[in-house]
Amino acid sequence: MIPEPLLKKLQKQIAGSEHPRELAVDVMYALQHHYGYLSDEAVVEGAGLLGMTPLELEELATFYDFIYREPVGKYVIHVCDSAVCWMFGHQSLIDYLGEKLHIPLSGTTEDGMFSLLPVCCVGFCDQAPVMLINGKPYGHLTPATIDAIIEDLRKEKPPLVEDR
Ligand code: FES
Repeated sequence: MIPEPLLKKLQKQIAGSEHPRELAVDVMYALQHHYGYLSDEAVVEGAGLLGMTPLELEELATFYDFIYREPVGKYVIHVCDSAVCWMFGHQSLIDYLGEKLHIPLSGTTEDGMFSLLPVCCVGFCDQAPVMLINGKPYGHLTPATIDAIIEDLRKEKPPLVEDR
């Protein structure tokens, strides 16, 4: 259930919009931020706020790589899955990350720390191969830099929040 302050905030934003559907992505991000992912409950609630059917919002949600319809880890690693990163060793890095974290692509570690997801070009081609972790880009990746990044995050307490 959406907490009252968030509900009021969303209702105010939607009331001030000539076309509430244009706020669909913002509403989905706000609900995802609250629930940790866009749960079925959130889809129904969001659709109700926007005057859409849950199916309409669901269709929109599945279009976006950064809207999660399943629970994800504290750190979401998006590995770029496009041409330039492919040329610079993308596949070996996916394999390396998968082996290091003991998860397949689209998986989440048992401790809930990391999820590994593919994403289309994120616009940092000059730094290929690239990954985002909770929206923060990391480029020129090698197994050594990945090791350092993952170890740093394992030590870190506060999550990097993917705010918009
Ligand atoms: S192809 Fe990977 S960032 Fe553009």
